[in-house]
Amino acid sequence: MKHKKFSYRHLDELKEDIARADVDLPVSDSTDALTLPLTLYGKQLSNRLVVHPMEGCDGTAAGAPDELTFRRYGRFASGGAALLWMEACAVTNEGRANPRQIFLNSSTRKEFDNLSRHIRQASESANGSVPYTVLQLTHSGRYSKPFAGASAIVPVDENPYLDAFTNPKRTVISDDELEMLEDAYATSAVLARACGFNAVDVKACHRYLLSELLAAHTRKGRYGGSFENRTRFLLNVIDKINARTDIDISLRINAYDAMPYPYGWGSDENGEPSLDEPKQLLRLLEIKGIRLVNITTGNPYYNPHIGRPGDIAPYVAPEHPVESAARMLHIIKELKSAAPAVQIVGTGFSWFREYGANVAAGCIEREWMDMAGFGRQSFAYPDFARDIVRNGGMQRNKCCIACTKCTELMRFGGMAGCVVRDAKTYLPIWREATNGQTMMSNKIACHI
Ligand SMILES: Cc1cc2nc3c(=O)[nH]c(=O)nc-3n(C[C@H](O)[C@H](O)[C@H](O)COP(=O)(O)O)c2cc1C
Repeated sequence: MKHKKFSYRHLDELKEDIARADVDLPVSDSTDALTLPLTLYGKQLSNRLVVHPMEGCDGTAAGAPDELTFRRYGRFASGGAALLWMEACAVTNEGRANPRQIFLNSSTRKEFDNLSRHIRQASESANGSVPYTVLQLTHSGRYSKPFAGASAIVPVDENPYLDAFTNPKRTVISDDELEMLEDAYATSAVLARACGFNAVDVKACHRYLLSELLAAHTRKGRYGGSFENRTRFLLNVIDKINARTDIDISLRINAYDAMPYPYGWGSDENGEPSLDEPKQLLRLLEIKGIRLVNITTGNPYYNPHIGRPGDIAPYVAPEHPVESAARMLHIIKELKSAAPAVQIVGTGFSWFREYGANVAAGCIEREWMDMAGFGRQSFAYPDFARDIVRNGGMQRNKCCIACTKCTELMRFGGMAGCVVRDAKTYLPIWREATNGQTMMSNKIACHI
């Protein structure tokens, strides 16, 4: 079906469009499933709501959380979601996606300590409980840009779909460099544990470095080619973290890159979903004792409609947002059924505005996932979880409108947040950063 902007005035109108699109998308009239408790790694979580990792690009030059980082996490923590999945945090300076990406190391550790305490205090005073916190560890690979105006692209393999846009200036990262990088993840995990975070996420999504490795079919050497080689880095990192600390381990993984084999993970020769390998990986993680995985799809630079359905994208999406959401949610369901002991966090609800809670509840009722994550919605409406838990739903006038301005902020070098619902803080930043340009008009910011 053709792309359409959100215009529903009643849940029934959404259900009618879902029927017209002929997709199976669970929509529950009740949001009660989101208020059910859950046990995760032996800890009690009071609801099924998750703040997704959302990069704010607002750290200091050294990588410490700064004023706006504290503000964002204070708002998320007060908002009542039982799980706060914190944004991409670099494990090396070279692997930062932008010069203000947070970077946990021995010199920034004190501010991370403070941030962890700030989250606990804000949630305790607003909700009488503390959220389970996951710190997402990352290396940005081909999207590394640690210095203003310059990039430090670190590709792991050639890719005809992506190379033209990231224009790699250096050769692919060597096997020896990769092996050393595995240790950087373990070092960051030790620091994260010391700062009081509950878990680290070994980020393997959105075609950043580990996600690229999963799809490195044409790479030579120990980390490319076979399934065993392509998953080696990820599995080694888990073992190295386990050897050095008892912090809980989780992963955010792409299940489908939407890029034809041999250049995409979870994709066949036509770029359609082919989930045998992602399922095999999930079963291996289950055997290794991993109990928390957050599943997503696509590449935010190359094909953003695949992983974050929206009203406005850098291009007109080739399909209706309910079709994009349904594809992702069905993939998540498939992976959940492959590894039932793993608690799965699902993605894809912000475009649905307040009805995102009905879709998320429907998915949990039908056991497609265990928890529901909200990304752009968290920027717009940081207390969405409290409204769902206390009042049974969200308010339309506080919801994300899927306008893509938070992504524009990132792409144009600003600090990211909601330009519409948090305008006093972010509208001036957006005006200055974009200077009248949009992602549609700027081919560097949009790669499709
Ligand atoms: C501005 C911005 C920053 C993001 N930063 C991260 C990140 O640090 N790590 C990550 O895994 N995903 C990140 N995402 C993706 C979101 O977590 C989420 O998958 C996506 O927005 C789709 O969910 P939604 O429809 O609820 O927004 C980001 C998305 C946006 C728009």
